[in-house]
Amino acid sequence: MKKIVVVVGDAEKRQELVSALTDAGYEVTPFGDPLEAARATSKFHFVVVITEETVVKHHDGLVLAKVARSKGLAGLVLHSELPAEVVMLCQDIINGPKPQSSRDEYRYRIQGLLRQTLEPLTLPEIRQRVIELTADQRDPFRAPDIKQVTDVIQQDPQLTALMIRLANTVLIRGIEQVSSVGVAVGRLGLLRVHAAVMTMAVLDIVKGMAAVPGFDPHQFWRHFIACAVTSEVLFELVRDRLQLDPALASKAFTGGIMHDVGKVILYEHAPELFGDVLKLMRYRDHSMWEAEHGLCGVSHCTVGTRFSQQWRLSAILEMVIKFHHTPDCRNVSESGRIISLVQVADALAWQLGFGVGGDGLTVPALNADILRLLDLKNEEIEALKPVALERIHEMLAVIPL
Ligand SMILES: [Fe+2]
Ligand SMILES: [Fe+2]
Repeated sequence: MKKIVVVVGDAEKRQELVSALTDAGYEVTPFGDPLEAARATSKFHFVVVITEETVVKHHDGLVLAKVARSKGLAGLVLHSELPAEVVMLCQDIINGPKPQSSRDEYRYRIQGLLRQTLEPLTLPEIRQRVIELTADQRDPFRAPDIKQVTDVIQQDPQLTALMIRLANTVLIRGIEQVSSVGVAVGRLGLLRVHAAVMTMAVLDIVKGMAAVPGFDPHQFWRHFIACAVTSEVLFELVRDRLQLDPALASKAFTGGIMHDVGKVILYEHAPELFGDVLKLMRYRDHSMWEAEHGLCGVSHCTVGTRFSQQWRLSAILEMVIKFHHTPDCRNVSESGRIISLVQVADALAWQLGFGVGGDGLTVPALNADILRLLDLKNEEIEALKPVALERIHEMLAVIPL
């Protein structure tokens, strides 16, 4: 008989899983605490660690238990060699009984998605290195030199070409055209380089998407770029009056690029959900966020947050992804202002014709409380639209899908 360790925080679920696995022919030893279980794992064939929210796979029972503990992981941690029927059994117990209706089916599947490790979403090594090198330029002890960053970028021809194209855009270019990546990186600055690499990462995700009926990746990409550029333009407008750190400009841009990344992941995993979401939007005048909540109990914000944790995005970016539809108009912190900026930029992108979904869908209105938080006036926003529009078109030409 195969021996198995089960680690489940919730006593009721632990008992349920123990009974199910015993019935399936396993000799089960249950634990409530991952570390306690880790000490005993070598004696067992399989380890299942279940806490509350997330699923992580790991080959080593001891390490996985420590990881679960150190990250305060909630979820299901499965041994990679665990037989499929055990995985199914565990997931059934965690997700609850199999659904009857399609609404329950969506909820069941999306809850499963949230517990998974989103394995395909890993960054190529060189890009990961550039992101790490340029991550937090406000920390003087971590600041890399431009040559070091340039050396890494040069190993990736696509990134090299992008840096040169960006350095020749209207906003950045000097008197002479840039043709060397070293000069390009110098002109852009490390914060812009960081934002550009993140942009390429999202571009790769959108490009790699399997076909989803009715989902036009070009339209999504145009929305991401429009929101990013508009966030940056808005940031420039309010930076001095709100005394924001100039280093946050790249966070505003990257927040715009990434705010809806959860949509891409959500609809790739549940393609038919997109059609149903559009129906609710069209016939019940729901926003996409409301329709997703109605159909699967969570929105693209929750799915995107799961993704941001996997990519270890900065706290500000994670909060933008999580709260861009529900910003707090009293939050005057740096992250609160950036979330609000992206929310305004999201609505402006729609108003400028870069929304997602097509005709007949709700164009989000600007929130008066959020405008007050950002000290933005309607006349200023109207004046800013043509500037944003020009830059959006230029950026789309530099980074097309
Ligand atoms: Fe969104
Ligand atoms: Fe959006």
